[in-house]
This record gives sequence, structure tokens and C-alpha cells, in this order.
Amino acid sequence: MAVADQRPLKVALLGCGTVGAEVVRLLHSSAGDLAARVGAPLELAGIAVRRLQKSRDLPVDDALFTTDAAALVARDDIDVVVEVIGGIEPARTLLLSALGSGKGVVTANKALLAEDGATLHAAARESGADLYYEASVAGAIPLLRPLRESLAGDHITRVMGIVNGTTNFVLTRMDEAGMGFAEALDEATALGYAEADPTADVEGFDAAAKAAILAGLAFHTRVTAGDVHREGITEVTAADVASAKEMGCVVKLLAIAEKDGNAVGVRVHPAMIPRSHPLGTVREAYNAVFVEGASAGQLMFYGRGAGGSPTASAVLGDLVAVARNTLSGARGAGESSYADLRIQPMGEVVTRYHISLDVADKAGVLAAVAGAFATHDVSIRTVRQEGHAGDASLVVVTHTATDAALQAVVDELRGLDTVRAVASVMRVEGTE
Ligand code: NDP
Ligand code: HSE
Repeated sequence: MAVADQRPLKVALLGCGTVGAEVVRLLHSSAGDLAARVGAPLELAGIAVRRLQKSRDLPVDDALFTTDAAALVARDDIDVVVEVIGGIEPARTLLLSALGSGKGVVTANKALLAEDGATLHAAARESGADLYYEASVAGAIPLLRPLRESLAGDHITRVMGIVNGTTNFVLTRMDEAGMGFAEALDEATALGYAEADPTADVEGFDAAAKAAILAGLAFHTRVTAGDVHREGITEVTAADVASAKEMGCVVKLLAIAEKDGNAVGVRVHPAMIPRSHPLGTVREAYNAVFVEGASAGQLMFYGRGAGGSPTASAVLGDLVAVARNTLSGARGAGESSYADLRIQPMGEVVTRYHISLDVADKAGVLAAVAGAFATHDVSIRTVRQEGHAGDASLVVVTHTATDAALQAVVDELRGLDTVRAVASVMRVEGTE
């Protein structure tokens, strides 16, 4: 049957903000191509928003807008529901209603997937509906489907990425312009990279949600945001960034998920990484994710992780996939959590530390400091000392040890008479 003769597939759009408005524009401007790619026209059948009176300047009939999202989702003629409202409620109730009635769902909602993805997946499984969420992690970058499909025959060992554009912009300005955290965040806000309330970004909540989704897919295990060890970038100082520079490193907010035996460790924290590492070259608001597979080796995914247009690209890709499945009666891959790995506590994770100390410049200080490391069986890799008239700064970089052992060393150093201050502690990643 010719595409034009096919019954249009009806799409309900929930939310029409930064991402939703771009979805509307792309559905309009690419209607012919999308119909040809799907095999049937995609018809926007309704758009749920919070404020009907808001001026939107979009190429659609005003009559499509409604504030009754639940009624829109419940309509019998809707084939696919696209959710770009965000947050937990009402998004969860709306998506459970859509999936429960067998409608395919496309969502960009990382917060919901990381908090309660299992319930959504169960609803999709029971009704045989599709649940696609490529846009929820790293915006435009095709990453979740490669993990879920292209790499389904491999064993992923590690996923390490920069998955938050706002914090990467801030850290780039601290590195390249010598700014402090507050000044760099002000610039990010002025340029529209940071939201009015940047807490979710700078405290690492956004990256932790994305890390949970990535870890779940990579390691076939249910991981929630609460399972992720999380530290943000608010404590990163200009001195940390300068210290990283001296080592040929750059500070990045990393999301890391790695397998260790029958456990998976998932963490988000700032870390020093060599400038020569592929992630060390990722600047400004870009995202990049480095995946290591037992057979595939090292893979790098790079691109725009946020913004209306890049995120809408990923939403449209999912919409085409779900629409094709709807037409052919097929179904995309569902949740895979068979491995059911144990979530590794942060204390068991093996890492390296960079520690800066302000100490008295006198005999025995180095021995006392070295003793603290020896007590906890942490091997020192390098020590650098600079003295200034009775005071000295010591920079110690360790070999790998468990995070618990490294924390114990730092606690002991804080108690030494000869150590005036532990100026900074930061993990080091991506070195041999
Ligand atoms: P916005 O805040 O810009 O838009 C949210 C939309 O949802 C608005 O249109 C709003 O209506 C509507 N809305 C809010 N509450 C309700 C409700 N109760 N019923 C119906 N509609 C409602 O969000 P974004 O577009 O930035 O983000 C959407 C999703 O995409 C989130 O899950 C986010 O995490 C994700 N995402 C966003 C990215 C980005 O760069 N912005 C990148 C990747 C993912 P109104 O317009 O009337 O206010
Ligand atoms: N606030 C997020 C970021 C948007 O800065 O990356 C994309 O999830």
C-alpha cells in the first residue's frame, strides 16, 4: 500500500517546552520524510501542556493543545505517546496508563527512568508495548540503542562518560580561563547552559540518573539513581584545577559504571583525567561516553547532550522506531536485567587519589605522611613537595586502592600534627 493510503499513526505529545516544541517543529518540517521512513504518516493528535494561554509560535492548530493529559493519553485512537514533561508525577501515572493500554511510549525522562524504570518496563512487558528512551541520556548521541542492541552480543566491562553539559561547560571555563566555580557558573547561566536552579546539574543528580540508566543497560541489572555514589562539582576549586594541570590532567565530572566480578559499581564524581585521554578533550557543553567491551574494545560516543533540537532528534528517532514496530506488529527489545549483579558499595571500588596537603617543612613530616599511607596499605605513586619558609605543600598521587582505604588515609592525615590542612582530595581516572 502507498504511504499516503496508510492510516496515519496518531501521536500524543505530553509537554511542549524546550524539547517538545522542537519535536513539534520537526514533525511538521519533516512530515514527508518521516512518513516515507515509517511507511505511514505521523499525525500529531494532541499536545498536553500546563498553561494553555502561553504563546508558542508553533506550526500547529491551537485546538490540539489541552491541559488534560490523562484524557489525551486515554483516547482510543492514539498509537504512540511521547512524554517530554519531565519529573516523576504526573509523568509516571500518564506513562503507566499509556503502556497499560498497549500504546507505545517514547520518553526523555531520565529522572523517572532512574527512579522507577522497573515499573515502567513491567507495564510495557505485560501489555507488549514499546518503551523507548534514547533522549534520556546524552541528548542527541545514539548511545542507549547501541548498548541495548548493537552491543548485545558483547560483555561490557566499563562505561565512563561526561553526561552533563552544564558542569562540563563550568569545568572547561575553570580550566581554560582560570575562573573559580561561582564565576564559571554565572557565565554558564548567562549563556543559557545552566538553569535558574542549577542544583540537579552541579550536585550531580542529573548525571547520577543518567549513570543509573547506562549501568542498567550495560550490565543487564536494575540500577536506580539511589544506587549511584554521587558527588557534584561545587567543591572543586581553582587550586584543584591548577594542580590537575601540573600533572597534565583536566578535571571532569565523570559518570562511571564498571563491573567487578559479580558486582557493578556506579559513581558520579569529579576526577582528574589525562588531557590525552579521549574524554580529556571534550570541551564546553558537549557530552561523550567511553565504552569498553570485551570483544569490541574501546568505543567513544560524542556529541551534543542537551538542547531542544539535539534532544528532539533522539526523540524523533525513537518515534520512528516505535511507529515502524506498530505498523509491522513487532516490538523492540524490552528490559534485560537477568544478570542481577550486586551493587558495589563505594568503599569497595578501586580507584586512585590525588591529595594536596599543607604541612610544616621540617624533619620527619614526609615519614609521618608516608606512614599514614602504609598503615592502610595504600601505595604511593608520586610525591611532589614545594617549600616556602617553614611551610610546604605536598602533593601525593597514589596507586590503585579501595576507596575505603583511601578515605581512611585521608582521615588519618587530617589527624596528624604536622599536617596543617588537607587542601584537596580528588580521584584520578584514565591513567595506567
Ligand atoms: P520544559 O520545562 O522546557 O518543558 C516541560 C513541558 O511540560 C512544558 O511544555 C510544560 O507546559 C509541560 N508540563 C509541565 N507540567 C505538565 C503537566 N502536569 N501536564 C501537562 N504538561 C505539563 O522541559 P524540557 O523540554 O527541557 O525537558 C523535557 C524532558 O526532556 C525532561 O524529562 C528532561 O529531563 C528531558 N531532557 C531535556 C533536555 C534539555 O536539553 N532540555 C535534554 C535531555 C533530556 P507549559 O509549556 O505550559 O509550561
Ligand atoms: N541539564 C542537562 C545537562 C540537560 O546540562 O546536560 C540534559 O540532560
